[in-house]
Amino acid sequence: MARIVVDPVTRIEGHLKLEVEVDGGVVVDAWTSGTLWRGLELIMQGRDPRDSEQIMQRICGVCPTAHATAGILALDDAFGIEPPPNGRIIRNLILSSNLIQSNILHFFHLAALDYVKGPDIAPFKPRYEADYRLPDDVNAEAVNTYLEALTIRRKAQEMLAIWGGKMPHVQAIVPGGVSEVPDTSKIYRFINLLKEMQAFIDNKYIPTVKAVAGAYADWFAIGVGCRNMLSYGGYPQEEGMNHLNKEKYFKSGTYIRGRFGEVDANMITEEVTYSWYKDDTNGTTPDVAVISPDVDKKGAYSWMKSPRYNGEAMEVGPLARQWIMKDPDVAALGDKAFSVMGRHFARAIETAKMAKEMEKWVLQLEPGKPVCTPHKLPDKEVVGMGLCEGSRGALGHWHRISSDGRTMVYNAVVPTTWNAGPRTGSGASAVRGPMEQAIIGTRVADPNNPVELVRIVRSFDPCLGCAIHVMTPDKKTISQFAIN
Ligand code: NI
Repeated sequence: MARIVVDPVTRIEGHLKLEVEVDGGVVVDAWTSGTLWRGLELIMQGRDPRDSEQIMQRICGVCPTAHATAGILALDDAFGIEPPPNGRIIRNLILSSNLIQSNILHFFHLAALDYVKGPDIAPFKPRYEADYRLPDDVNAEAVNTYLEALTIRRKAQEMLAIWGGKMPHVQAIVPGGVSEVPDTSKIYRFINLLKEMQAFIDNKYIPTVKAVAGAYADWFAIGVGCRNMLSYGGYPQEEGMNHLNKEKYFKSGTYIRGRFGEVDANMITEEVTYSWYKDDTNGTTPDVAVISPDVDKKGAYSWMKSPRYNGEAMEVGPLARQWIMKDPDVAALGDKAFSVMGRHFARAIETAKMAKEMEKWVLQLEPGKPVCTPHKLPDKEVVGMGLCEGSRGALGHWHRISSDGRTMVYNAVVPTTWNAGPRTGSGASAVRGPMEQAIIGTRVADPNNPVELVRIVRSFDPCLGCAIHVMTPDKKTISQFAIN
């Protein structure tokens, strides 16, 4: 039995350590570990609850818009208000601009380099060497697109800033709607940039993903994971008092052990058995849990908690969304969808569809109409829940507010803790996290060059910035690789 430790896994967002046990060249067990602590929820305690939108965005510089959205949905829910149509649509445009930027970032600047051979210079080196299979002309085009994708991502951020003020850490998302008003000049600028996005996605992103998927077809059978899927749903399409039940572009739903079902938020708990937190919150719901760190906890190996849905590990993200929406191209993959390449394929399809949906939304804006609904702080204890879909998957913020208008409990349950959280239970009844499950059974050809492992990790597009946040002393490792 040999152990391989990859720490940190690079070309992802944030700091993830991966440790695997290999027997006869095959991974027999895996541990995914977040090596930093987030702790931002504790900063919220005792504050004006409306500070949450700005403070909780600081969880992450890559996906702050998703945290702003979830945080504000929780406040809307707690205050019993909702945005007028302009406010709803502008929130959708802010979050979707970030989704496009983030998905292009993930493919061209993070994951594609596992399949596309860049020149032997930075940022393409250092790297694990892989079995590069793309034809020379396709490979060269993909390398060229690396630079073009940087420009396109900047333009996606400009689209976001038309409505959000700036990026990262938007300023326009407020309780009851947004603070930015639409006018024809902003709409025109947005559409112009969106047309550039659509051209890039249709002419570069989709063809490159299809070329990679064709050359690496065996990766439709590797990195399967838990095969349970969860989407909270996101991008509301209509008004209605309860944001959980209204019609949304991304559908909400579960897929557990082969069966589709509806989301019941009461089924969501967080486990800390193998996390560096005191056990007193183990298995509790996010509206009540106030965690305390326990750095010396025996058996713990991650700062991430383990969200569970009725005790089940669930994969979240573009594959979960498109599977639950029954997208015809993703559904046509059948079992092959649950794989490394299935995740890349679903993410690309989702990006193209989203860019078309955004065109409909922006044309629904009505200059001169209100963008925000006024609110009052409640005079009794309330709990707000904000569920949305960030680029990386289902994101929920839970916010308990006291009768004198102060934050009592705050919990953000983020996509990467769903995907990369540690195991729960013990022995034969242990439920490993989705990423751990995806890695077990993988054949590693060369333990000194474990490219197979990082391909699986990167297919989930983990954001450890979101999952964890504050530095802690390093834990011991057996052997260590730093890779690009
Ligand atoms: Ni993030």
